[in-house]
Amino acid sequence: VDPTDVDPTDVDLGDVDLSDRDWWTRPPAERHAALDRLRRERPFAFFAEPDLPGIPAGPGYHAVTRYADLEAISSQPAVFCSGQGAVSMQDVPAELHEFYGSLISMDDPRHAKIRRIVSKTFTPRMLERTLDSVRAVVDDVLARARVTAAAHDGVIDVVADIAAPIPLRVICDMMGVPEADRAAVLANSNVILSGGDPELIENDDPLTAFLTAGAEMAALMERLAAERVAEPRDDLTTALVTTEVDGERLSHQEIASFFILLLVAGNETTRNAISQGLLALSEWPEERARWAADPSLDRTAVEEVVRWVSPVTWMRRTATRDGEIGGHRFTAGEKFLLFYAAANRDPEVFADPQRFDVGRDPNPHVGFGSKGPHFCLGAHLARRELQVTFRALFDHLPDLEVTGPPDRLASSFVNGLKRLPARLGGTR
Ligand code: HEM
Repeated sequence: VDPTDVDPTDVDLGDVDLSDRDWWTRPPAERHAALDRLRRERPFAFFAEPDLPGIPAGPGYHAVTRYADLEAISSQPAVFCSGQGAVSMQDVPAELHEFYGSLISMDDPRHAKIRRIVSKTFTPRMLERTLDSVRAVVDDVLARARVTAAAHDGVIDVVADIAAPIPLRVICDMMGVPEADRAAVLANSNVILSGGDPELIENDDPLTAFLTAGAEMAALMERLAAERVAEPRDDLTTALVTTEVDGERLSHQEIASFFILLLVAGNETTRNAISQGLLALSEWPEERARWAADPSLDRTAVEEVVRWVSPVTWMRRTATRDGEIGGHRFTAGEKFLLFYAAANRDPEVFADPQRFDVGRDPNPHVGFGSKGPHFCLGAHLARRELQVTFRALFDHLPDLEVTGPPDRLASSFVNGLKRLPARLGGTR
């Protein structure tokens, strides 16, 4: 569906519940029409938190949909903190801190010190070293996709055969996760970022499923950590277990939650950018032809994919004091959800925002977050992976044709696809 086909004035705002994971499985055109209306008419709309078994719902949150407000909140971490929860609407129970209490839900100064342990690895200069291995992973994954297609009448699933394995293998290589453990990392990461989607949650019991997935990831960390302490290697897990902060090693919980964050953040987001980038290209064939023919567009096109898809829909902040922002008076404790998906289509910032334009430049999107200390640690890595992947797709699988329809993840937090059917025709 062409996103411009849905008229925002047709949207019934009474029917919009941003807390309802099923609402997010609606076609993007419909979702964006609703976000447009909210941005224009109710830029700090209040929503109740969903009732999840075992996790008490708090009072609710304000949905920030204007770019300027989102940027203002993100750039004042002392007023709008992350320490009370960044990745969940609810304040999470203590037993979930193992995998919710990580870097992303910490405030400075501790946050900055812990981030520094690995941040050097993610700078463009250090990543230059990994470029060849990223290329090798991408080439291998695409070659396997061709074999799968040959065995299935040309049919593949973009998610399972292309989009999921690339970032999973790249981040597992960087962390030093052995091949034999990667299927479990994928499965557990899917549960942790399932948003409660019933297909991924056994027995309709999200709390138990999250706890089990987190415990399995923590057990993997413990095994690898013991090996690294005995024999350090050149990987991120070694950095986590051997680096000292303020003269001390990280606590068990800090190591576990950071380990899980890196694995989860490093694969789900990039996966969804690849799959939905391909979906966008199938919906905008002229943009696909333009990009495929011109490698000099790789940089701007990848930024446009991230803006368009907004793989992370929102992050949360909590007010530490009373104040006023964008005309909205708030009190300490109020929660704000920063809707990157909405800010990325704000006409105050993006000309013709509902158009997918691979040459868009400048493109100050907030897909990787906005100004502030939590800006995506993996942004350079993700850009690199996406540039290499799309170029290789154009070069090696030029006849890849998305046949759809996509099967969307029922999550308000991750803009994800579970499956995307495609066909490989006369591939080289
Ligand atoms: C944080 C998006 C890929 C690791 C974030 C944030 C967003 C984001 C929106 C939060 C920013 C904020 O709160 O201000 C994305 C997208 C990706 C991607 C859209 C892919 C297209 C990656 C990769 C890694 C990664 C490949 C690699 C490990 C992280 C980490 C944080 C983070 C560790 C927390 C940083 C902190 O709190 O200081 N990302 N990300 N991300 N991302 Fe990414």
